[in-house]
Amino acid sequence: MTRTGDSIERAGAPTREVARVREAARLRGELRLPGDKSISHRALMFAALAAGESRIDGAGDGADVQTTARIVAALGATVERLGTDGRNVSYRVVSPGADGLTEPDGILDCGNSGTSLRLISGILAGLPMTTILDGDASLRRRPVARIIEPLRSMGAVLHARRNDTLPPLTVVGRTPLRAIDIATPVPSAQVKSAILLAGLRADGRTTVREAIATRDHTERMLRARGVAVERGDSADGRVAWTVQGGVAVGAVQEQVPGDVSAAAFWLVAGAIHPDAELTLHDVGVNPTRRAMIDILSSMGARIEERPHHPTADDGVGEPIADLVVRSSDLRGIDLGPADVAAAIDEIPILCLAACAADGSTTIRGAGELRHKESDRIAGIAAGLRALGARVETDGDDLRIDGRASLRGAPTDSLDDHRLAMTFAVAGLVAAGETTIARPGSAAISYPGFFDDLERVRA
Ligand code: S3P
Repeated sequence: MTRTGDSIERAGAPTREVARVREAARLRGELRLPGDKSISHRALMFAALAAGESRIDGAGDGADVQTTARIVAALGATVERLGTDGRNVSYRVVSPGADGLTEPDGILDCGNSGTSLRLISGILAGLPMTTILDGDASLRRRPVARIIEPLRSMGAVLHARRNDTLPPLTVVGRTPLRAIDIATPVPSAQVKSAILLAGLRADGRTTVREAIATRDHTERMLRARGVAVERGDSADGRVAWTVQGGVAVGAVQEQVPGDVSAAAFWLVAGAIHPDAELTLHDVGVNPTRRAMIDILSSMGARIEERPHHPTADDGVGEPIADLVVRSSDLRGIDLGPADVAAAIDEIPILCLAACAADGSTTIRGAGELRHKESDRIAGIAAGLRALGARVETDGDDLRIDGRASLRGAPTDSLDDHRLAMTFAVAGLVAAGETTIARPGSAAISYPGFFDDLERVRA
């Protein structure tokens, strides 16, 4: 790959550069990934809620997590960066605790980060202050009614543009909030987390019910900070989470595992490339995040998992493993709405795996992908078709024919980090040269991605 311009990795801001990726003869290497984005966001936010000093090691240093660090500082916590290697950073956060946080002077800029906007709203709903949350052009297109409705029913006042559907979002908090028992309207860890965080400031027990279980980092991390989070399972697969209002969040030291959603790009690269062996160190393999590993394995991927501490999962810490992937013969697969929810951020790169598989792959009920950093159904279909794949979309469903002979061509990330990285990985196997417009978006979650791409092909 050759780079044009220095700002290819500039975080957050829309970029006009083009990345060029040529087909790789072989892929080899050992990689350490950026710290998990979901866990890094939460570690910073929970540090703001906890009185005293918190320490976060191995946090992802992508633009989204930096956004949360700035917001936490704007609310009155002292956030100190202790050092970064370009992709991971350690933080020391000293906070007066939830009751000592102060109303920010200006608008809270959430940049490209839906997680910042939605989780912080849950916190702000229970604080006696007025705040305005805004973001970039992508975030201003993403739905907020899903958090406005539950937080309103708890007694906070929220308003947003376009009849309360789109950011900017104004939150007038209230203490205490009313405890509620509510089902999430869509499977969303962001919505669930916003309600649970508001529940910490409520006058009783708040329960959130999920029809399809989503990532449980909020629940695990609150438990690790001394908050009892109860789990209830019903026979039909529904999960209910309950917190008691008024319980203090404790200050802790958090070691953030490598991001499995970043690992996904290399798992697919290794599986679809004919001469590959890649080792990924210290990857978080939380049961609610590992669906991508299991889906790819059931497609025939040769993924070896070496768990660090193979003890029973205690529902508090995060299980970690090293992963080794080797060239594989993949088969197509049929995925439904529960698979989509479980692998929500990995569907774009799974679509690339489907192009290399024997037989076709169907993905049903992927509508939530239209509400991510871009309309990912449209974006992935356009990019993979440009490379010669056969991709059909029908509403919220996708069908991808396998054994595509991919040829290098121009693609566009639409300023979406996961599309940028998917098309770059496609470039490693497509004949000739693939170009990716607006590749700088990769630094939203994976600063150093293009450096790693260079490293594994060397
Ligand atoms: C996230 C939850 C998911 C995911 C996002 C991070 C989180 O969003 O797409 O990248 O950290 O809770 P939804 O919960 O809205 O699906």
